[in-house]
Amino acid sequence: MQTLITDRAIRERSHELAMQIGHDYEARPLTIIGVLTGSLVFLADLTRQLAIPHRIGVLQASSYRGATTEPGLLRINLELVPDLQGRHVLLLDDILDTGQTLSALVEQVKQLGPLSVRTVVLLRKLGRQLVALEPDYCGFEIPDVFVVGYGLDYNDEFRHLPFLAGLDPEDIALGCERR
Ligand code: XMP
Repeated sequence: MQTLITDRAIRERSHELAMQIGHDYEARPLTIIGVLTGSLVFLADLTRQLAIPHRIGVLQASSYRGATTEPGLLRINLELVPDLQGRHVLLLDDILDTGQTLSALVEQVKQLGPLSVRTVVLLRKLGRQLVALEPDYCGFEIPDVFVVGYGLDYNDEFRHLPFLAGLDPEDIALGCERR
């Protein structure tokens, strides 16, 4: 495992994002919706640095299953999303990879009738995007490696790490063989 982004760098960048978002949404009714489970840590850190009033909600989306790093069928659960009438929504996710998850979520959340929908991602993986979507706010652009830590997992492990690390492809293969 190689450290990709330190906890200090994450802290500084999420503070910058919070300042920018606070400025852009000042005096507007904002609801931030985090995408479970990978965005939990980022959601908690970013919202606590946001100096404007806002509401927090969550939804569930998953495309990875168990010991694999390849996406499968996308499953979305909007049951936990609060009422969005009269609200501006900021969808918050851990990572923009192919872009399929976030673009599908934007379309589904728009159906719930908010005033607007924008996106914020902690990470954007370069060279992988299949769906054209520009995140409105982005923490870091990273190379095409599988990352864990700070909420991101491999087979539900490593979410608790305070930093972001790249997993060695050989270790991923070994992990898959052992299953
Ligand atoms: P797409 O391809 O739809 O993927 O943009 C977004 C979702 O895929 C997961 N993902 C990762 N999770 N390390 C992870 O732990 C990664 O390197 C990675 N790449 C994609 C993640 O759940 C994200 O919301």
